[in-house]
Amino acid sequence: MILVTGGAGYIGSHTVKELLRAGYEVVVLDDLSSGHRELVLTEHFVQADVRDRKALRAAFRRYPIRAVMHFAALTSVPESVADPGRYYEVNLLGTLNLLEAMREFGVKTIVFSSSAAVYGDPQKIPIPEDHPTRPKSPYGRTKLMVEEILCDYARAYGFSYVSLRYFNAAGSDPAGRIGEWHEPERHLIPIVLEAALGKRPYVEIFGTDYETPDGTGVRDYIHVVDLAQAHVLALRYLEAGGKSGIYNLGIGRGYSVREVIEVCRKVTGREIPVREGPRRPGDPAVLVADPTRAQEELGWKPVYTALEPLVETAWRWLLRLSSRFSQS
Ligand code: UFG
Repeated sequence: MILVTGGAGYIGSHTVKELLRAGYEVVVLDDLSSGHRELVLTEHFVQADVRDRKALRAAFRRYPIRAVMHFAALTSVPESVADPGRYYEVNLLGTLNLLEAMREFGVKTIVFSSSAAVYGDPQKIPIPEDHPTRPKSPYGRTKLMVEEILCDYARAYGFSYVSLRYFNAAGSDPAGRIGEWHEPERHLIPIVLEAALGKRPYVEIFGTDYETPDGTGVRDYIHVVDLAQAHVLALRYLEAGGKSGIYNLGIGRGYSVREVIEVCRKVTGREIPVREGPRRPGDPAVLVADPTRAQEELGWKPVYTALEPLVETAWRWLLRLSSRFSQS
């Protein structure tokens, strides 16, 4: 059985779906602080916080866990700047609790959710995994510290791990059963689509004076189902005896904020009011992955390499989510 912490969250829930589809048995552990019970697709569910050592050990005692995927974490960059203590407690101590429980129960295989936030301001584009790591926020630092802890656990205790550095996860399950559901929403694509739906008066563009072709920030948007697939491949790779390692997950192509808004206009056929605002502190101009290593070593091949089909899945999900709320 595979333990998925944070399996009620956005990326975790999509990965659970892919794991089940690949024939794995899955148990989800999530405290539902930001995840949603409705997104949990397995019958095996433990509601617990990763800071709760006793609950973690009880889960290992109860289920025959052979590997772990660790998504449970706090994920907001600005929030981590304002309240670093909470980020170190949940993302760092929570992970240590999990690793110690794994050690106690002899489980040594883990796939970890890392982030492009470990790089800080890029010195070159696209960004390869050996790019210097200078995170600019406590959030990014917690991710980098866990990567280093995993390296130590591998050396000392024989753990094998894959750390996956996500670029900008976006889109939703094309079947519409699960999807991106953050409260509050902070990510560009759902924000733009909420404006298309009339749930927001406008989209604010954070900065129009970057040194990019149209002056707005450029990001590498990777579909959440492609991300989820990469987790299944990483697990298979480790279970087949693959060497521990770190992999970027992005499509290797960037889109500007204005390009994203334009694609959203096309997909929705609706007006999207826009306001131009100042830069958001801490935002790099461009973040684009070099995903060659994941492609070569894990055999990963993203399906969504264009923005339009990705936005279509996000739009379908948002329509579903909002009709659900207007009915209830
Ligand atoms: N943006 C806007 N207006 C908005 C929201 C976003 O213009 O209302 C812009 C941002 O400035 C950025 C782009 O849209 O250029 C994407 O912004 P997101 O907030 O969607 O995503 P980020 O690139 O800021 O964040 C992502 C992940 C984080 C990770 C970070 C690494 O969501 O988990 O990359 O820097 F830490």
